[in-house]
Amino acid sequence: MFTPKSIALASFSAAALLCGCRSNVESFKTDVQPILEHNCAVCHSPGGIGYEMSGFSVQSYATLLKGSKFGPLVIPGSSKQSNLIWLLKHGAHPSMNMPKICEHLAAQDGKCAIASQYARRLPERQVKIISRWIDQGARDN
Ligand code: HEC
Repeated sequence: MFTPKSIALASFSAAALLCGCRSNVESFKTDVQPILEHNCAVCHSPGGIGYEMSGFSVQSYATLLKGSKFGPLVIPGSSKQSNLIWLLKHGAHPSMNMPKICEHLAAQDGKCAIASQYARRLPERQVKIISRWIDQGARDN
């Protein structure tokens, strides 16, 4: 028998099948970490200038959540209150925006010796992935 509930369920699963889209749940390991690894780790891991100056390392989930010597940068559940997103969106003073541009990279065995004053922007798509992950609770998933 077709109750309104079974019809609703059937059309919901049909929509899910037709769409074939991946879920909107962002994963730390597969979505967020690779972006940080690629764009931040050269400076924000032990030995890097960003880590030395701010204490902020993107090496692991634990260090990301811990933040910098000035406090947390990720507020689970609220990308709006997370300074990390603020800096990535270039909402701060230009000297604070991230990621900074790395100079003299090759000369220093791949370590960034001098961080310029200027920052480039991460593609909006990547900032959205990190924002969604924070809004979904910033889990170690
Ligand atoms: C070229 C080197 C470099 C790269 C690449 C870089 N940073 Fe930084 N970062 C720095 C330096 C140096 C500082 C400390 C001085 C400052 O705050 O301007 C800093 C500071 C920060 C701070 C401020 C911490 C605090 O509380 O004061 C955050 C957050 C940050 N970076 C996030 C990132 C993220 C996220 C990325 C990658 C998307 C990134 N950075 C890429 C060099 C870098």
